[in-house]
Amino acid sequence: MSEIKPKNEENKILVIDDDKSILKTLSSYLKKLNYEVYSAENGIEGIEIAKKEIPDLVITDIKMPEADGFEVLERIKEIDNHIHVIMITAFDDMHSTVKAMQQGAYDYIEKPLEIDKLKITINRALENKRMSEKLSSFISDEADKYQLENTLIGKAPSMKEVYKKIGQTSSSRVTVLIEGESGTGKELVARAIHYSGITKDNPFIPVNCTALTESLLESELFGHVKGSFTGSIRDKKGKFELAEKGTIFLDEISEISPNLQVQLLRVLQQKEFERVGGETLIPMKARIIAATNKDLHQLVQEGKFREDLYFRLKVVSINLPPLRKRLEDIPLLVSHFLIKINKELHKNVTKVPADVMEMLKNHYWVGNVRELENTLLQAVVLSSDDILNKENVLLRKPEPGEIKEEVVKFITLAENERNHIKCILDAVQWDKNKAHKILGISLPTLYSKIETYKLSPFEEKTE
Ligand SMILES: Nc1ncnc2c1ncn2[C@@H]1O[C@H](COP(=O)(O)OP(=O)(O)OP(=O)(O)O)[C@@H](O)[C@H]1O
Ligand SMILES: [Mg+2]
Repeated sequence: MSEIKPKNEENKILVIDDDKSILKTLSSYLKKLNYEVYSAENGIEGIEIAKKEIPDLVITDIKMPEADGFEVLERIKEIDNHIHVIMITAFDDMHSTVKAMQQGAYDYIEKPLEIDKLKITINRALENKRMSEKLSSFISDEADKYQLENTLIGKAPSMKEVYKKIGQTSSSRVTVLIEGESGTGKELVARAIHYSGITKDNPFIPVNCTALTESLLESELFGHVKGSFTGSIRDKKGKFELAEKGTIFLDEISEISPNLQVQLLRVLQQKEFERVGGETLIPMKARIIAATNKDLHQLVQEGKFREDLYFRLKVVSINLPPLRKRLEDIPLLVSHFLIKINKELHKNVTKVPADVMEMLKNHYWVGNVRELENTLLQAVVLSSDDILNKENVLLRKPEPGEIKEEVVKFITLAENERNHIKCILDAVQWDKNKAHKILGISLPTLYSKIETYKLSPFEEKTE
């Protein structure tokens, strides 16, 4: 490791430990690293010093007489929430480590202290604090719980089209088919249609068509009369009745059996149905919104889904764009989810470094908005300060099979060659010796192509 001395004079570190030898060793080590060091032999004294000096970092032992490490942590956070606290835990004490992290410690180090680890942890804590002071808060105003749960976020033209359709369909009871990949917000759209329109004072009833066997699903939807099958000991209303004049949301509609497809078609055509085993016709008042993440049109062509039902469902269709087709909405979504997650977890992650945002914008979001939300949730859980740190943003690399075919680009062979050469050169940091071998051309040929295509390492990416 290099021994370049960092400029540490501006950083104040307070060390609290009742073990005098540790206190002394630690303090003199930190002083050698050029920090401004304060030390205290017990928690009470430590808290007093913290109040006066407002250190950048506190390193405190846990087991101490009078005020222990947890109390110190709590009081320090009251004095200034931005002071990072590193706890010294016993090697095998899982419980206090867990508790320390829960209560907002920045990190912990184990006894016996290892100098290298300690140095890394301290550096990281102080580096983070500096960064936090430089970055301004990314998320803005507060929003109430209803809004956080039910607002669709996005300003991309494709989303505006979605909002328009929500508006158009919510004032009538027309059947709607929502199509979109997994996690694009189909259920959210269904709820938006229901709750923003004439159905809002009636129930919204979601039914997942894959969750039940065929006969159970049938009785779930239509209800049944007593004795219609083993175990049906009394009459039971189905979801169509329970929904009254509200909405039935049929999720994953592609999965219903041919038999149920017929029955559903009949309900849609005749606006009435019977309970399983029953004879009375019951009027159908609910509106149907169906959703699918499969290409229903294709299933129709393959003979797996009835064409007549497809057209009955698709009176109005709404197409939700995959997240990777509206990357411009990522900052908005990040802000929205951070507010929501902070609230749920009582955290305060508000700052997003530019490179992290760039990383989020460049990811291929197979799981769409749900994946983004889960990624942020995980990152917030893991973070010990107010920054959305790169190391906590764990992105899942898509499997080759998950990458959807991209739109054909209408470019010439020469443009394609130019792009490919540039791509390889960038990948090997313009090491032309490596690049010509990968490309399978001679070095002089590579030079002449670079010349012809006017390639350079500094060119802006164009899309
Ligand atoms: N535009 C959006 N704005 C805010 N949150 C969104 C948006 N789209 C989706 N979400 C959130 O992402 C998560 C997934 O959305 P939803 O359940 O509606 O997706 P889906 O399309 O029904 O997915 P699946 O096909 O897997 O059932 C939810 O937590 C939802 O609140
Ligand atoms: Mg869904």
